Amino acid sequence: MRTHYCGQIRTADIDSEITISGWVHRRRDHGGVIFIDLRDREGLMQVVFDPDTEAAFAIAEKVRSEYVLRVTGKVRTRPEGTENPDLPTGQVELLGKQLEILNSAETPPFQVDIEDDEVSEELRLRYRYIDLRRPQMLKRLKLRSEVVRVLRNFLDDNGFMDIETPMLTRATPEGARDYLVPSRTHEGSFFALPQSPQLFKQLLMMSGLDRYYQIVRCFRDEDLRADRQPEFTQLDIETSFMDEEQIMAMMEGMMRLLFRRVLDVELPDPFPRMTYAEAMQRFASDKPDLRIPLELVDIGDLLVDVEFKVFSRPANDPAGRVAALRLPQGGKLSRKEIDDYTKFVSIYGARGLAYIKVNETGNGREGLQSPILKFLPDAAIDGIMARTRAEAGDLIFFGADKASVVNESLGALRVKLGHDCDLVEQGWSPLWVVDFPMFERDGKEQRWHSLHHPFTAPKEEHIELLESDPGACHSRAYDMILNGTELGGGSMRIFRESVQETVFRTLGIDDREARDKFGFLLDALKYGCPPHGGVAFGLDRLMMLISGASSIRDVMAFPKTQSANCLLTQAPSGVSDAQLRELGIRLRKPPEQKELARSLSDLGDRGEGKPF
Ligand code: AMO
Ligand code: AMP
Repeated sequence: MRTHYCGQIRTADIDSEITISGWVHRRRDHGGVIFIDLRDREGLMQVVFDPDTEAAFAIAEKVRSEYVLRVTGKVRTRPEGTENPDLPTGQVELLGKQLEILNSAETPPFQVDIEDDEVSEELRLRYRYIDLRRPQMLKRLKLRSEVVRVLRNFLDDNGFMDIETPMLTRATPEGARDYLVPSRTHEGSFFALPQSPQLFKQLLMMSGLDRYYQIVRCFRDEDLRADRQPEFTQLDIETSFMDEEQIMAMMEGMMRLLFRRVLDVELPDPFPRMTYAEAMQRFASDKPDLRIPLELVDIGDLLVDVEFKVFSRPANDPAGRVAALRLPQGGKLSRKEIDDYTKFVSIYGARGLAYIKVNETGNGREGLQSPILKFLPDAAIDGIMARTRAEAGDLIFFGADKASVVNESLGALRVKLGHDCDLVEQGWSPLWVVDFPMFERDGKEQRWHSLHHPFTAPKEEHIELLESDPGACHSRAYDMILNGTELGGGSMRIFRESVQETVFRTLGIDDREARDKFGFLLDALKYGCPPHGGVAFGLDRLMMLISGASSIRDVMAFPKTQSANCLLTQAPSGVSDAQLRELGIRLRKPPEQKELARSLSDLGDRGEGKPF
């Protein structure tokens, strides 16, 4: 079918007789001469047909965009002045002698030479096989394949074994809803698709396999965002007899190698580290983007006695937080822009966004402008100015609420301001966040939840606190952050049965439920479990960062929309009554005859981390 890929022909091939096959990218009729840019996976090649080669020319007159052709001819230099320096094949062209139409094509719904956002994403997803022909998409998938190869090689070289784990399994709690699969042979019972292979990889350590990895699909039924998909891929890793220092050193070594190989970028050695507490205090985020030079300061202690309840209530609440975020030279923001930011933080539950414009410093309240000044005494104002180190021209934003609301809203505002005001520094900023709390409290239920998952080991010196003071208990977990995205997370695991049982109890899982759900794990812990730990990286997120894509969908061949459906295959879909009967299932509501592929208001914006 071919001797060369279209995109691989160079000046060294001049005068050779070659055959190429591919798709018609563009066809131009230049009065008497027909030019066809033929495209395959590797790129474009210009083919010229002149009327002297009558048979081929006659066929060339008939071809249209996206026809599949095979051409045989002779490579020659392009005439002077017609070279295309933007194309690797731009110095040469193929003088077509034989042409065969392997297949015709209808006019495609969009052109293959467009940029990502020149056509609606709905159309791109519906005709994904055409979208994937676009050089931009192809490049991303190639890069993904290359990244996977580098990662695999690194792990193979370091003695890790690639082992598969089941897809039809029991629920593994990672904090999302499960995708369930009904069992036909056990009517009324369900498998869960894995949210991660967490328990299987731990069991593999108990089996003595020592070092495991897997590039594995995970399923989570959760609210989707620009960097989340219902099924996504993890690079999942587990090791025995290594501690967290060794695991972190090895994993950052892997990332340094990867970035050197695929981007020619040297990441820092070692990666910087920050405790969870510091990350929350300074950046209101457990995945701070350190490229953005904005920081929060706590001011609650200055406001405990003020009459302004918006500030004094959270200042007096142990679960509250009052924090300020200074935007240097933010004084030029318009009223409308401030209103828009107020709307933005309300998405995260903030009930307002107080601010002070600093026109001049050193003149008390005179140099300031704000609707809240009248509620604050001089001492509080002076304290705020001093602590935020405000300068003339700045704008100071305030968050006052439950700490969780302040952190979510100001944390997101900090990132948004960084992007909107062009403050994001160039480059790559990896970071380990360490020293996490074991548990966090669910606001409504007043129950303890694992900050990571229930198999995460507590710090040895905190084991005593598991039951007496769960909130003070810290874990041996670590998250790898890159440019404000959580690339991966992991921990040392609990490897003693009694500790695991205690953690279950703290989580409100009583002994019977623990036996029922995790009996196999508790049993396995009895039969010689080595100390072990590991990590999982989000491969799609890694690819988003490496390729600079603005949506996780752009680095996946066949992604789902925000309401978790596939526009290409129209999944999920209804099933026949016979199938349901076989599974022993009756629907509570008959399926609606609505079109599942909803209009993609669905796909929303492509902004980072914003709900849409
Ligand atoms: P965790 O839940 O942190 O840890 O997941 C690991 C990494 O997977 C990626 N990720 C996602 N990517 C795309 N879409 C999603 N919906 C999604 N959810 C998670 C993130 C995240 O850092 N078993 C543990 C790991 C361990 O302890 O070893 C786990 O799954 O990049
Ligand atoms: P109000 O008294 O509700 O009109 O609020 C006065 C100012 O405080 C307005 O600028 C509000 O945006 C702001 N504000 C109200 N609640 C909060 C809050 N929880 N955090 C920060 N600012 C707030």
